[in-house]
Parts: sequence; C-alpha cells; structure tokens
Amino acid sequence: MGRRGQPKENVMSRVTALITGASAGIGEAFAEELARRGYDLVLTARREERLQALADRLSGEHDVSCQVLAADLAEPDAVEKLCAELTERSIDIGFLVNNAGYGVPGHFLNNDFSTHTDFMRVLMGALLELCHRLLPPMVERGEGHVINVASIAGMLPGTGGSTLYSAAKAFVIKFSESLSVEMADRGVKICAVCPGLTHSEFHDVTGTRNEVNQLPKFMWMSSELVAKQGVDAVLQGEPVFINGPVNHGMELLARYLPAAIARRIVGNQSKKFRSAENTSAPQKP
Ligand SMILES: NC(=O)c1ccc[n+]([C@@H]2O[C@H](COP(=O)([O-])OP(=O)(O)OC[C@H]3O[C@@H](n4cnc5c(N)ncnc54)[C@H](OP(=O)(O)O)[C@@H]3O)[C@@H](O)[C@H]2O)c1
Repeated sequence: MGRRGQPKENVMSRVTALITGASAGIGEAFAEELARRGYDLVLTARREERLQALADRLSGEHDVSCQVLAADLAEPDAVEKLCAELTERSIDIGFLVNNAGYGVPGHFLNNDFSTHTDFMRVLMGALLELCHRLLPPMVERGEGHVINVASIAGMLPGTGGSTLYSAAKAFVIKFSESLSVEMADRGVKICAVCPGLTHSEFHDVTGTRNEVNQLPKFMWMSSELVAKQGVDAVLQGEPVFINGPVNHGMELLARYLPAAIARRIVGNQSKKFRSAENTSAPQKP
C-alpha cells in the first residue's frame, strides 16, 4: 500500500473516488475521510452549492483535487449523463461510494407509486448502474474499491411504515455480497457497509427527528466514524461490514431469535421512531 491506504499503483497517479450523496451526513464524511487519505474526489448530489463549498474546503485542507457533478439520481438518465461527464473530463474512477439515500415515510399504499419508483431508482437502480458502468475499467486495471452504503435495517425483520427501506437495503447487502464473490479474483473489492442510527440529516428529511431524539445516546454513531470504518472495511476486503457493537448485537438477535419474536421486538421498537403517519392504518387507494 502507498500513503495512508492508497493502492500501490497509484502512488504516482492518484486514485479518484466518486461519492454519491456527498452534500450531507455520511456521504460528506466519506468525502472528508477519503480526502484525508489522499484520494482525489468527484462529489455528487442534487444540492450543487453545498457540494461546491465542500469541494473548496477539502481541496484547500488536503492536497487533493475535488470536482462537483450535481445530479438527481431519481432521473432515469442521471447515471448515464454522470458517466458521460466523467469521460468528457477524462476522469477514471477507482473508488466508488454509493451512499445517496433517504426514507419514504408512510405505508406502502399511502404514497404514489411514482414516489416508490424514485426511491427504488436512487437506492437501488442508480447504485446498480454505477457499478455496472464503473466496474469494467477497475477490472481491466485489476484494482478498485466499491462501498455500497446499506443499513442494519436490511438485516432486521421488516416493519410497517417506510415499507421499501429495509427491502432496498437487504437488496444492497445481497447484491454487494454476490458481486464481491464475482470480483474476488479480479482485484476489485466490494463492501456493503451497514450503519444503524447515525447523526446526519436523514431523520430531518424523513420527518422523524423528534422521535429519534428520544432514543438512547448509546445507539447512535457519528457519520465520521461510520465512514472511517467503512473505508477500512473495504480496504481490508470485507464483503459486508456492520458498524458498531449495538448494530452487531441487533443483527445477532435477529439471526438467533425465533422469527416471530424478532419481528415483534423490532416492530415495537420501530414505532418509537416512526412518525404517527408511519404507524397509522393505510388509507384506501
Ligand atoms: N442516518 C442514519 O441513521 C442511517 C442509518 C443507516 C443507513 N443510512 C444510509 O446512509 C446513506 C446516507 O444517508 P445519511 O444518513 O447521510 O442522510 P442525509 O444526511 O440525509 O444525506 C443523504 C444524501 O443523499 C443525497 N440524495 C438524496 N436523494 C438524492 C437524489 N434523488 N439524487 C442524488 N442524491 C440524493 C442527499 O443530497 P441532496 O439532497 O443534495 O441531493 C444527501 O447528500 C443512505 O443510503 C441511508 O439510507 C443512514
């Protein structure tokens, strides 16, 4: 390895990392962590001004180049355009962090199907397409890293409200695990990083801030620690990584308790941090 986690081949030519959802929370922390380790960065999300402010700060504080490419990943052609722009700027991505995400409050039938379609594009479709488009050059070089940010929710029983969230995260975990097997002898490491409750803007966006603020402090992690552990995990070749002992404990309980009991416990706990809208009976379509 070269300086602080940089692959050897890139001591001369540096590795560029693309981070989705870099305008806030865990994505911003990944940008900070990778800049600190000497990676050049391409930052993407919808809020361009925030990305530009972050890019200016990181390129000033670290000896790295930071470029901004604003995109709404719910748009069907967003990834195609993003990758075309990377080609236009002659940028090779050697480290991909698929992090952009959010929750959709409410029961399945209470939201328009277009809301679900957008959600699936951002949390699954864009992630898959970025892997499909950006992995071939990594395979050709025999070196590359991909972090797919999942969630401990993808390992726990499903609950009422935010219906697609745990399903999408379970998908990300299984996809990453399979891909890591396919890439094992190609020099490309894939890791699904699974945080639990993390300080970020996530719960402001979903409208559950008041509820989650009631949860005990020991359940929470900082975005910075989640990102640092995530980068360490993919560099070490972990296919699936759970952040923190509390989330490990929850995964173990879900794995070993009888399913009906685990479902009841998780269902009761989730009511504490889902908004009233989430736990109310669904409206008739
Ligand atoms: N916080 C938690 O407790 C927690 C726990 C487990 C897993 N996670 C996962 O961690 C990841 C990051 O979430 P976070 O906690 O850091 O939340 P956050 O602070 O709300 O950040 C979410 C990021 O995703 C971007 N994003 C959302 N919709 C997008 C879209 N349509 N197109 C492009 N970018 C979009 C946002 O940028 P713009 O709004 O500027 O587009 C923002 O940069 C998510 O995948 C989330 O599911 C979070």
